Amino acid sequence: MRVLITGGAGFIGSAVIKHLHEKHEIFVIDNLSFGTRGFIDQIEDDHFFENDIRDRDLMFDLINRIQPETVVHLAAIHFIPYCNEHPFMSSDINITGTMNILDACKAAGSVKKALFASTAAVYPIYDEAVTENHATGPLDVYGLSKLTGERLCNEFNLSSNIPVIICRFFNAFGPNETNPHLIPEIQDQVNSGKRTIQLGNLDPKRDFIHTYDMARAMELLLEAEIQGVETFNLGRGIEYSVREIVESFERQLGEKITIEVDPKRVRKTDRMHLLADVNKLKSFTGWNPEWSIDDGVKTLIEK
Ligand SMILES: NC(=O)c1ccc[n+]([C@@H]2O[C@H](COP(=O)([O-])OP(=O)(O)OC[C@H]3O[C@@H](n4cnc5c(N)ncnc54)[C@H](O)[C@@H]3O)[C@@H](O)[C@H]2O)c1
Repeated sequence: MRVLITGGAGFIGSAVIKHLHEKHEIFVIDNLSFGTRGFIDQIEDDHFFENDIRDRDLMFDLINRIQPETVVHLAAIHFIPYCNEHPFMSSDINITGTMNILDACKAAGSVKKALFASTAAVYPIYDEAVTENHATGPLDVYGLSKLTGERLCNEFNLSSNIPVIICRFFNAFGPNETNPHLIPEIQDQVNSGKRTIQLGNLDPKRDFIHTYDMARAMELLLEAEIQGVETFNLGRGIEYSVREIVESFERQLGEKITIEVDPKRVRKTDRMHLLADVNKLKSFTGWNPEWSIDDGVKTLIEK
C-alpha cells in the first residue's frame, strides 16, 4: 500500500512509521517545524518532502504525484500552551492545512482511506470516561481547530465517498517526544540528575497511552473495513495523576523524587480528568494495550 503520512517526522508519526514501514511504501510531508528528519531514517530522501501543508498548490501537486492509497494526516500544531500563544498560526495549520490535504486527496483520485489525528481536547470537562458519542465542547483554540478538522473530514467523506477514520488521541508518551509535555518534563529533569523536580498542577489525571500501542491501533484501524466516517478514542482506558507518574519514575530509578510546585508552570484552568472509554476500538479491532506506564517510563530513564 502507498501510504502518505503528513507530520510523519514528529513524535507519533515516527512511531507509526517504525510500525508500518516494513509492510508499506511510506511517503512523508513534514516541514520539520517540530519534527526531526533523523527520527525517520528509514524513509529515503525521494519519499520525504520538507514542505508546508499550508501551501495549497504544492499539496495538490505533491499528492497528485505521490498517488497515495492511504493518507494519515498528523501534521498539526498541538502543544496547547503554544496554540494559545499562537492562535492564528495554529488555526491556519490545523484548519486550512487540513482543508488543503483533504482537497488534494480528493483531486488525486488514488486515495481509498484517510485517517485524521484528532484529540481528546474536543471533549468538554467531564469526570468519567468519555465515549465517542459524548457531546463535544473544546475548551481552547487547539480543541476547536481539531473539532473543525473532524467536521471537514465529514464533509470530505460526503463529497468523495472516501472512508475516514477519526482518531481522538489521548495523552501519548514514549520516545521522540517533541513538545514539553508532563512526561518529557519529568524525564529531562530526572535524566539531568535532579531528584527534586519542578512541576505545575499535580492533581489532574490523564489517560497516557504509549506511542507503540497507538501505532498498533492505527495499523489495525487502517486494515479494518470502514464505511463513511468512524470515530475512535485512542487511549489506554486508565488515568494517572501527575504524582502517580512521578511514582513510576521513582520505581524505575529506585530513588525518591521530591516535587516542588513551580507557580510559573501552573495552568490557570485545567481539567481534573481526561479518560478514554476504549471499548469501541477494542471491539472493532481486537486491540489491547501492551505497554504499561512502568514499561514506558523504564525506556525513558538514562541510568
Ligand atoms: N502527542 C499527543 O499526546 C497528542 C494528543 C492528541 C492529539 N495529537 C495529534 O496527533 C498528531 C501528531 O502529534 P505529535 O504529538 O506527533 O506532534 P508533533 O509536533 O511531534 O508532530 C506534528 C508534526 O507535524 C509537523 N508540522 C507542523 N506544522 C506543519 C506544517 N505547517 N506543514 C507540515 N508539517 C507540519 C511538525 O514538524 C511535526 O513533525 C497531531 O495532529 C496532534 O494534534 C497528539
